[in-house]
Amino acid sequence: LDNGLARTPPMGWMSWGYYMCGDNCLDNPQKCLDEELILSVADSFYNDGYQEAGYEYIVIDDCWSERERGSDGRLVPDKNRFPNGMKYIADYIHSKGLKFGMYTNVANITCMHFPGSRNHFGIDAMTFAEWGVDYIKVDGCFVGESFLNTAYIKLGHYLNKTERPIVYSCSWPYYIEYIHRKTPDYSKVAAHCNLWRNYHDVSTSWASVRIIMEHYKQEYSTLSKYHGPGGWNDPDMLIIGTDVLTEGQSRVQMSVYAMLSAPLLLSCDMTKISDYEKSLLQNMNLIAIGQDPLGIMAQPYELSYFITLWVKRHLPMKGDKYHSFSFALVNVYQSNFTVSFAPSNYGLESEGGYSVMDVFTGKYLRNITLEDTMTVLVPFEGWFY
Ligand code: DGJ
Repeated sequence: LDNGLARTPPMGWMSWGYYMCGDNCLDNPQKCLDEELILSVADSFYNDGYQEAGYEYIVIDDCWSERERGSDGRLVPDKNRFPNGMKYIADYIHSKGLKFGMYTNVANITCMHFPGSRNHFGIDAMTFAEWGVDYIKVDGCFVGESFLNTAYIKLGHYLNKTERPIVYSCSWPYYIEYIHRKTPDYSKVAAHCNLWRNYHDVSTSWASVRIIMEHYKQEYSTLSKYHGPGGWNDPDMLIIGTDVLTEGQSRVQMSVYAMLSAPLLLSCDMTKISDYEKSLLQNMNLIAIGQDPLGIMAQPYELSYFITLWVKRHLPMKGDKYHSFSFALVNVYQSNFTVSFAPSNYGLESEGGYSVMDVFTGKYLRNITLEDTMTVLVPFEGWFY
């Protein structure tokens, strides 16, 4: 969507992946979606280096409202969990220089059966704008295919009419493809949305991360076409920090998401992020890869023995005439494996050669020419656990 927003993939935090509905704070205080949680994420972004690294949007997912609209027809935040309302939260988040996101659904209820926006697109867009919302995730449960195909466009018009810059995240293609079993019209989706979900929800497991990566590999040719500044495929949240991934697995999710130019939306308890995870999430080499202004999705190549080589073309380095590249190798075989490949087979052009950096350590490894091959040991990161 060419509205000047999301020129690079959004980075931030979103409640659903870890906190899920989070509306039962009495019985499950560890997973309570409330004002205190949201403000604490803002504090953590502000105090712990996340904001400087580029993390910006703090997004409240489903289950934030009362069960009924107010007598004025407006959505009402849950009075116990959000006692000061959403404008208060937005103001706090904005006072830290961060941005605020919320959630709705195009049907008359949300996926978790809270009030949805059907028949209320205009008033809801206005309400979100008045509250100071900067990002809206719009779900697509419980409606038919033809409704989806008009609703997202209509709601987008109302958002536009508010004149507030609001990043528009649509789950439209996901529901078209996986609920209604039709082919999404990505040219339309990309014309009307800043990012879009196209595959199943991530769950807090390595298996889920593997399946999502595999999907992006299989669907590369479809998904890469409409992906770029202002419009991004969204493979769903990062689950780093939820205590289910090994360090190696976290490294794979962060790296592959950066290579894809995917949104980097954390979903975890910010107080439980380990030092290793923090250094990974704030690795400025990885973030520069993910935020490259060209926003080209990495292309997957199958090397022998279940090694995937992801190759991403970047803007040339300052003063350079040739594009720079990043390479990521992922092993889904059953043990560590050493592979050799010739980088020049994947689009490199500079006769003068390239210098190679390990983005994890920041160290320069060697120079390569167009004739060289590289040999790399790729660790296996585990099957489905
Ligand atoms: C389905 C979406 O895909 C999830 O990310 C989350 O928003 C839930 N709905 C909330 O009900």
